[in-house]
Amino acid sequence: MLSHLLWFHSTLHLALHQSLLSPTLNALIYNHFHLSKMPLAAAVASGQIVCVTGAGGFIASWLVKLLLQKGYTVRGTVRNPDDRKNDHLKELDGAEERLTLYGADLLDFDSLKASIIGCDGVFHTASPVTDDPEKVEQAIIGTKNVIMAAAEAKVRRVVFTSSIGTIHMNPNRSPDTVVDESCWSDLDFCKNTKNWYCYAKTVAEQTAWAMAEEKGVDLVVVNPMLVLGPLLQQTINASVAHIMKYLTGSVKTYVNAVQGYVHVKDVAKAHLLVYETPSAFGRYICVETMLHRGELVEILAKFFPEYPIPTKCSDQVNPKKKPYKFSVKKLKDLGMDQFIPVKQCIYETVKSLQEKGHLPLP
Ligand SMILES: NC(=O)c1ccc[n+]([C@@H]2O[C@H](COP(=O)([O-])OP(=O)(O)OC[C@H]3O[C@@H](n4cnc5c(N)ncnc54)[C@H](OP(=O)(O)O)[C@@H]3O)[C@@H](O)[C@H]2O)c1
Repeated sequence: MLSHLLWFHSTLHLALHQSLLSPTLNALIYNHFHLSKMPLAAAVASGQIVCVTGAGGFIASWLVKLLLQKGYTVRGTVRNPDDRKNDHLKELDGAEERLTLYGADLLDFDSLKASIIGCDGVFHTASPVTDDPEKVEQAIIGTKNVIMAAAEAKVRRVVFTSSIGTIHMNPNRSPDTVVDESCWSDLDFCKNTKNWYCYAKTVAEQTAWAMAEEKGVDLVVVNPMLVLGPLLQQTINASVAHIMKYLTGSVKTYVNAVQGYVHVKDVAKAHLLVYETPSAFGRYICVETMLHRGELVEILAKFFPEYPIPTKCSDQVNPKKKPYKFSVKKLKDLGMDQFIPVKQCIYETVKSLQEKGHLPLP
């Protein structure tokens, strides 16, 4: 499976270099908007039909909630519309009138096409969020299928939920570099460190750009850092598990690492903003702030001293990792003037885990 994907990846690169207008991916993204597209007319929510892939997931559920609030008619794809795990979507305000769940798998083009045909826009959030190498294919082929289906359905715009993982994984970056939307993760580094999630997302995003250019799809990408906040769904997703593990006693130390955080409501808001703003183009980093893991556990311990939160770093040898510099200027310039503070993200995540019964109440 993996060798097939590596072949797919090298073929993609060959295609990028041989057949597209521009020699680099960033130039491709620039050209994609400035040369080959007329800007999208301002979106009017009422009467618009949009598809959200992986609608039952953490981010997508908040996005569906926001889209319904704004008056959109939403088609949410889930693997099985009758699965009880999707019930929270049916309870959202406006769901009865304007939400339909479609059964679709990322590897099944026809199921995606049936969900997307007749839509004005697509939000592609579905993806395995895991370092399992066996799941790499789903992220990449799924994205390819969604862009193909969106092209055939002639939708107005596709918003793809990518990740900071497609941007920051580069060991050769100087500490003075400000990480912005022009940066790309190094695929060899992702492979060598077995970071299959970042590998899959990077190839998926590159595939999306190449296919959008080839098929004339208006694509805009959101690249969030780690997303926190209250859960609408019953299950625990990977980014919320990142917090949960520090409260259950399952980890005794914290790692010497840094991570950027953003509230799930801000991520949903950013998706809507880039969809509705005609001048939006390219990629948008979406993050509030960056913390060392030591700072994260300190905040947790201040809010929730009753849990067995680790106090020691597992690395007593190396200097404390420093946050890298990043820019959210592009998203701010588009109108995202405020982000929910990271302390509130952390607090609301834990309260939600308690309310949903995932964490014992003190
Ligand atoms: N959370 C973060 O910190 C974060 C940060 C940056 C980017 N992102 C991106 O945001 C998106 C959503 O992530 P999330 O945190 O909301 O994760 P999540 O809750 O795990 O949601 C992922 C969704 O994708 C669906 N999915 C996975 N494989 C599928 C397949 N083969 N066919 C159909 N659906 C499939 C899942 O459905 P099932 O439940 O049926 O598996 C689930 O609904 C992902 O693209 C992720 O890479 C997340």
